[in-house]
Amino acid sequence: MPNLGDVFPNFEADTTIGPIKFHDFLGDSWGILFSHPADYTPVCTTELGEVAKLLPEFANRNVKVIAVSCDDVESHKGWIGDIKAYKKLEAFEYPIISDPRRELAIQLGMLDPVDKDKAGMPVTARAVFIVGPDKKLKLSLLYPATTGRNFVEIIRVIDSLQLTAYKKVATPANWTQGEKCMVLPSVSKEDAEKLPGYEATAVPSGKNYMRLADQPK
Ligand code: BEZ
Repeated sequence: MPNLGDVFPNFEADTTIGPIKFHDFLGDSWGILFSHPADYTPVCTTELGEVAKLLPEFANRNVKVIAVSCDDVESHKGWIGDIKAYKKLEAFEYPIISDPRRELAIQLGMLDPVDKDKAGMPVTARAVFIVGPDKKLKLSLLYPATTGRNFVEIIRVIDSLQLTAYKKVATPANWTQGEKCMVLPSVSKEDAEKLPGYEATAVPSGKNYMRLADQPK
């Protein structure tokens, strides 16, 4: 599995919109690649439908979305019909990668150690990779096949990744857009005190590290 900060593999794959090379698919955008155990499975159906509904939220953040499931394109195309019907979607406007031989799942370290398909082959776990416009891995998550992901949380995380990529702040527990941010330990006391909305909380150690400021514009 790629480590944070690694250039994400520029893999080639067949998808429901034709063959892609991952870096070309991303262009100058951020990207999210999320994996699924198999087509025509219930949890995956809810997840792919949820992402289709949230697509404008990803687009507003300049994030391109792509999914992978270890079945082929023909199977994906049939399954998309079910996803649209189940979630009452007009359109399904992001690609699904075909990975019937688990080549991508193996390359990216996404195989589930427990769940197998009907032929006894290991399926892909629920991985999430978020890649920056520099093509480097910014975040990875790995869930077992039996736990569906919270894509509202993933959008929250993208907001934090994008904010902290450009501003000298970190986001605290449960932070959402517009809330105060933590001032980085590397920012001097003098500079921190000039920040809008600056507030520091004294702690028993006497170390002055619990410092908040308004979210930078
Ligand atoms: C599902 O998507 O529902 C699923 C797939 C594999 C194992 C368990 C659940």
